Amino acid sequence: MTNPSQTALDHLLKLAEQAAQNSYAPYSRFRVGAALRLTNGEIVTGTNVENVSFGLTICAERAALVRAVSQFGPAIRIEAVAVANLNAQPSPPCGACRQMLAEFILPDAPVVFPLATGTRTMSFRDVLPLGFEMKLK
Ligand code: THU
Repeated sequence: MTNPSQTALDHLLKLAEQAAQNSYAPYSRFRVGAALRLTNGEIVTGTNVENVSFGLTICAERAALVRAVSQFGPAIRIEAVAVANLNAQPSPPCGACRQMLAEFILPDAPVVFPLATGTRTMSFRDVLPLGFEMKLK
């Protein structure tokens, strides 16, 4: 599926919400979940895992991403992303997560995330304009 349907995105959002239930966020109490839909048909979820050092905290989106690569290898391509939190707050993916997702995501993949009320869906190319790239040759 190159253009996931609204039903598929709604489902992805539900899985992101479920993933947030596993959040380890004793410091911020901000519980986030992410779900990635891959072009191989698989869905991989992640949640934020905090650390007492604060800086070592990993976001839900990056947790899902490293899990996806670990499970299915470096050829994966992400065709949709959903982010949810259990705090009824807006939570678009942070800048670090956008840059990490850029490596594996299709530019027109929809990214769904919570606003103050409801959700917003944007294509990844709009979520990360001018991401860092390095042409080695
Ligand atoms: N967090 C995420 O999981 N994803 C984001 O894109 C932004 C922030 C987490 C990190 C931390 O555990 C908590 O939310 C508060 O910043």
